[in-house]
Amino acid sequence: MHHNINIILGIETSCDETSVAVLNNGTVCSNIISSQVVHKEYGGVVPELASRAHLKMIVPIMNAALAQAGFSLEDIDAVAAVYGPGLVGALLVGLNFGKSLAWSRRIPFIGVNHMEGHVYSIFLEDEKPEYPFICLTVSGGHTDLLYIKEPLTYERLGRTRDDAAGEAFDKVAKMLGIGYPGGPVIDKLAKDGNPFAINFPRSYARAEHYDFSFSGLKTAVLYYLRDRNLLAGNGAPVAKSPELNDICASFQQAVVDTLVEKTRRAVADYGVKHVGVVGGVSANSRLREVFQNMASGNNSNVYFPRLEYCTDNAAMAAYAGWLRLIDGETSPASLAAVPNLNIA
Ligand SMILES: Nc1ncnc2c1ncn2[C@@H]1O[C@H](COP(=O)(O)OP(=O)(O)OP(=O)(O)O)[C@@H](O)[C@H]1O
Ligand SMILES: [Mg+2]
Repeated sequence: MHHNINIILGIETSCDETSVAVLNNGTVCSNIISSQVVHKEYGGVVPELASRAHLKMIVPIMNAALAQAGFSLEDIDAVAAVYGPGLVGALLVGLNFGKSLAWSRRIPFIGVNHMEGHVYSIFLEDEKPEYPFICLTVSGGHTDLLYIKEPLTYERLGRTRDDAAGEAFDKVAKMLGIGYPGGPVIDKLAKDGNPFAINFPRSYARAEHYDFSFSGLKTAVLYYLRDRNLLAGNGAPVAKSPELNDICASFQQAVVDTLVEKTRRAVADYGVKHVGVVGGVSANSRLREVFQNMASGNNSNVYFPRLEYCTDNAAMAAYAGWLRLIDGETSPASLAAVPNLNIA
């Protein structure tokens, strides 16, 4: 069943990005992202402040997305909004706005799983992976290895047992006193460091299962800094140490090695030729480099979203919603926000 839905408005407010996108037949016409800056001074996202900023921004961001796409509200065939996982107060803003908008215009509404959005971020590019493929979702809250046999179905092969990869980047950056979010800063500093200067642990690298663990690595960095009196806030911030670049590069390499090794094994075990790497951490330059090496080594094709689609955005959510809508699926007006929504 193929339903005639072309122009779709997507809404994403699961965390600290207010984003609205317009897609026409799966092609991005606009994708406006407003990243909240109020959280920087707290070193992490403050839920209440996130909700308030979404409330303030949702209408102007929607208007900007419509204007850039060259459409008016009357042109929209359907609305898609993220309903989980995320912060409940933040989710409620975009979800309720989207439901009301669809209801007032009498057009279909679909709730979207934010992680499914991340998976489909690679489908916003011209070259799309073929099914079945393995997808590594690495973000601030998730590190999942998924086997995707056909559209919109997920088998989870592995997940993190403690911290997500992005969370590890953020926590290590905090110890180093180099700012939030940590991923982009560590990526940049690591470029001038030696990734093999310090041998940080690669948890589970040789284990049979596909699960990840990053809390041991985080602790190893903590002890390394403490032993050298380099912890941020200890009067001898490592930010001024010549070792900073090596620490960043070595930590990053430990994360990258673990992620790529597990994915490489899943690719071999499941005999797939296509691999997706998505989520905020997929923006990491070293991760991309090592995955490209893997792809030439095992003759696979690896797909990354462009940087704009790595971290949270409405375009990816709109695409996933569109796939479900053209398949005849809609969500009821009673759909609630689900903060801990799973993908598999
Ligand atoms: N270049 C980079 N290298 C490493 N990590 C990065 C880079 N850029 C961003 N990140 C990390 O990506 C994370 C944010 O990604 P994203 O927005 O997808 O997560 P989230 O939406 O908060 O979590 P989730 O998607 O799991 O709900 C942060 O932890 C950030 O440090
Ligand atoms: Mg995300």
